Amino acid sequence: QGRPSGWRSPRGLDFAPVAPNTADAVVVPEGYGQQVVIRWGDPVLTAAPRFDARKQSARAQARQFGYNADYMALLDVPHRRDQQLLVVNHEYTNEEIMFYGYDPAAPTREQVETAWAAHGLTVLVVREDGRSGRLWPVVGDVLNRRITATTPFALTGPAAGSALLQTNADPTGRMVLGTLNNCGGGITPWGTVLSGEENFNQYFANAAAVTDPVAKARLARYGLPTGASGRKWERFDDRFDIAKEPNEPNRHGWIVEIDPYDPHSTPRKRTALGRFKHEAAEPRLTRDGRVALYMGDDERFDYLYKYVSKHAYKKGHSRAAREHNLRLLDEGTLYVAKFTGDSPSTEIDGTGNIPSDGEFDGSGEWIPLATGNVSHVPGMSAEEVYIFTRLAADKAGATKMDRPEDVEPHPYTGRVYVTLTNNKDRGATGKAGPDEANPRTGNKHGHVLELEERHRNAAAESFRWRLMLVCGDPEDPSTYFAGFDKSQVSPISCPDNVAFDEYGNLWIATDGAALGFNDGLFAVPVKGSQRGHVKQFLTVPTGAECCGPIITRDRVLVAPQHPGETDGSTAENPGSLWPDGPGSIPRPSVVTVWKEKRR
Ligand code: FEO
Ligand code: CA
Ligand code: CA
Ligand code: CA
Repeated sequence: QGRPSGWRSPRGLDFAPVAPNTADAVVVPEGYGQQVVIRWGDPVLTAAPRFDARKQSARAQARQFGYNADYMALLDVPHRRDQQLLVVNHEYTNEEIMFYGYDPAAPTREQVETAWAAHGLTVLVVREDGRSGRLWPVVGDVLNRRITATTPFALTGPAAGSALLQTNADPTGRMVLGTLNNCGGGITPWGTVLSGEENFNQYFANAAAVTDPVAKARLARYGLPTGASGRKWERFDDRFDIAKEPNEPNRHGWIVEIDPYDPHSTPRKRTALGRFKHEAAEPRLTRDGRVALYMGDDERFDYLYKYVSKHAYKKGHSRAAREHNLRLLDEGTLYVAKFTGDSPSTEIDGTGNIPSDGEFDGSGEWIPLATGNVSHVPGMSAEEVYIFTRLAADKAGATKMDRPEDVEPHPYTGRVYVTLTNNKDRGATGKAGPDEANPRTGNKHGHVLELEERHRNAAAESFRWRLMLVCGDPEDPSTYFAGFDKSQVSPISCPDNVAFDEYGNLWIATDGAALGFNDGLFAVPVKGSQRGHVKQFLTVPTGAECCGPIITRDRVLVAPQHPGETDGSTAENPGSLWPDGPGSIPRPSVVTVWKEKRR
């Protein structure tokens, strides 16, 4: 029914695509069921009160599920059948639609402290219902944990203790309160969870108070606000006021590592991985067993990075192995990517016309920035390279990309898939023009790049690359679906988070899709005759971006983030009523989707 003749689904993708739509709902293919697993404000820890939108408090929030879930990881729990650990981060808060009567010019201390408690991460045990595909939170489990904007984190690695990381509250430069704007993430081979501190700049105020030209340039490169911040947190804690604590912003913008199996462990900020607007960090082992991490800096014209550890990963669960592995992200080499196209630059005209060799492709190199305490960037110390990584990468001549979002190595081939979400400024006056890796002027819909390391070794210092998707409406001639028949693909715009299923298909979640329809989740084979056959699996509610995703044999998990984030949306008049319906305010949630069993 409705299938084009000759239609054959690759393994794992036997569903009829969901049509683009603007429904204020999660829309899944026919024959699939869905359930909200947990929503903002639902109890996580013992004695957490039930959510009451009109009585929300910081005290309640610290024990409840946070706001705006983004990255999600699902991990096994040893010796517990039918239970798993769901680790979720909470990127940011939408105060206007969280709080009734919110005045952005005069937030109250209770609202601000509630927002602090709604940031961070949640570790939650979930119980599977084998028969139905549903998942239930195990409230109050000993492994459950909330990490917030005030939880102590240790700074570790080569820049820890630096004078540039010291503040009045922390003269050691080694202990930071909280994590902010956690976006994507990754799972390490040793079972910890990584999460990227992305747009941390927005929480700080008054960069204009800094007059030293070097310090000023550093603040500007990271986009720190010269005046008041949007949320006005600087009124309630001096550390958000750069005039009073000029080094506090340097303590944010890192990859954090959480041990979800030890609720009493101190989470870490790993300085060896550099400081920028970290989207995510996804690992792959090198030929000799070291760990490589791929990381994007999500800003227009920013860069793709790689870290390679000095020491090899040790298998097993012994205490010695675990302690060894928990140091792997503290010593290694940090690289930034340079992409070179192989077609004449005259063929890259910014319109998306495929070059005469039939592909947007070429070679690339990983430029080392620092190894341990040794800087490879003239004029910068190693400490400066780690703390002001963007400035180091500028000097190294890295390739300016169209907003690198998630980066995911393929579980079988090791090829690395990079989403470049969009860049309206590509080719604008005074900005970098199109190149073969970022071939469209005013790139509205983004693209997906595929990278293969030399000898398929994640430790390599050079690679080949090609674009797999140039996104948009397939009728737009500037789109490219790996050469697949465009009449059969779903329109897709603004790729962001990605994940692989067990068959090796790539799943792509979108954020800010610019085709007039809601965001959603798509799947596409990366190999064989169906390579490039993009199919939409679900759509998310009004104003939401599609976060997560996790694809397992039994279910798909997504986190519709910021439902109701539309122009003029408030708690009194929200842009979405998902998931609770009439009379409610929107609540960012985690949703599980499963295939119904045939009767
Ligand atoms: Fe938080 Fe780059 O998406
Ligand atoms: Ca080419
Ligand atoms: Ca993202
Ligand atoms: Ca995004």
